[in-house]
Amino acid sequence: MKFWPRTLLWRSVLLIALVLIVAHLASLQVFRVSEREPRARQIAQQIVSAVNLTRAALITAQADKRLSLLSDLSQREGIQIYLGEPGEQVAPLPDLPTFNLVAAEVRERLGADTKLTTNRGGVYGTWVSFTIDDDEFWVLLPRSRLERIEPLRWIGWVALVLVLALAGAYLIVARINRPLRALTRAAAQMGQGKIPPPVEETGPAEIRTLASAFNQMATDLKRLDDERALLLAGVSHDLRTPLSRIRLGLEMLDDKGDSELKAGLVRDVEDIDAAINQFLDFARLGEVEPAVAEGDLNALVRSVAERYARSGQPVAMRLSPLPPMTLRTMAMQRLIANLIDNALRHGRSEVEVATGKMPGCAFVEVIDRGPGVPPDQAERMVQPFTRLDAARGGAGTGLGLAIVDRIARMHGGSIRLLAREGGGLRARVELPLAAKG
Ligand SMILES: Nc1ncnc2c1ncn2[C@@H]1O[C@H](COP(=O)(O)OP(=O)(O)O)[C@@H](O)[C@H]1O
Ligand SMILES: [Mg+2]
Repeated sequence: MKFWPRTLLWRSVLLIALVLIVAHLASLQVFRVSEREPRARQIAQQIVSAVNLTRAALITAQADKRLSLLSDLSQREGIQIYLGEPGEQVAPLPDLPTFNLVAAEVRERLGADTKLTTNRGGVYGTWVSFTIDDDEFWVLLPRSRLERIEPLRWIGWVALVLVLALAGAYLIVARINRPLRALTRAAAQMGQGKIPPPVEETGPAEIRTLASAFNQMATDLKRLDDERALLLAGVSHDLRTPLSRIRLGLEMLDDKGDSELKAGLVRDVEDIDAAINQFLDFARLGEVEPAVAEGDLNALVRSVAERYARSGQPVAMRLSPLPPMTLRTMAMQRLIANLIDNALRHGRSEVEVATGKMPGCAFVEVIDRGPGVPPDQAERMVQPFTRLDAARGGAGTGLGLAIVDRIARMHGGSIRLLAREGGGLRARVELPLAAKG
């Protein structure tokens, strides 16, 4: 249904409007029905007295004064009198409740053979017949006598009441909605991995409770985040110094012993070092790096790829032209590096970085021909410290994709782990492009 609005505000306003309209129409109908009988009686009363007066005047007037009496009646009262034709047939009254009530009342008072019509020989008005001796007369009553209250004025009043009620409904709903909107905004920020400033705890009790609970949750999350970052940073920092001592010691060992053992130890130290770097990266996510307004995603991809080329791990690139976008340079490089690390470690072959554009967003993706990630596991993999199969790939912290996810959300984007056609993983990060304007 296209007409049904999406926001709570307009849905509520529309619902209240519908209820008001139905209630108004219902009460109008009740009023019309209950007012019908008294009104019909009043109209009948007017008709009866007009007919009786005319009839009495005609009977008592002297024959030679009748003509002037008739013209007098017509001029002063707007009542016109005509002589009926013998055996005259007229159109019956329209079958409407009010007309039926009036006709019944008039016939009760003036006699059952009184005829009423609204159209006598093409002349419209309220026509009532009466007889004097054997002659039939017709009275044509002026419109203004029987005019009902103009329906147009009624509609005007009802419309005014409706507009006022609608404005009131809008004000009420908007008032309730305001704190809700603040909450929605804050929740959306939270979804992007930011900690929003506390929302105002105002409005009705339920919304106040919600806002307060939300604020509490945000504070708790922030504290938890801070504590985790502090812990990770502290531990990593403390591990680093002894680790570099170990590395130094290893290098100083002569090769006379088991060289294979030594190489293994060096690899282990490198793994630990990489893990510590990931811990530090993860801990640093809380620090907000200022965003560059006219960032060049392709340039970032190139600079990261160069780093890999220098260390002897060339990565293929397929870059498409992209519009400038708002980027956090360091964070975005970390994101790309983490995806390439994963492809090199878990994917092992045919690693390629690509950028491109889709409607409304740009993407950067790293593809490989490794074992990939089963679709039902993809969502879980971006959680911190989760790994597909801890036994599968040696060292690793399970933080890489979590870091990617957090950085993507920081930019309003998201990560998707897709199956590459022909086997392998397509890890794609989509970043919204600001609407041109
Ligand atoms: N390119 C890839 N190919 C196959 N599996 C992957 C790929 N990238 C990530 N994964 C899976 O997702 C898990 C989580 O990745 P990540 O968070 O980077 O942790 P880590 O790399 O430290 O194990 C990995 O353990 C791996 O099982
Ligand atoms: Mg990783």
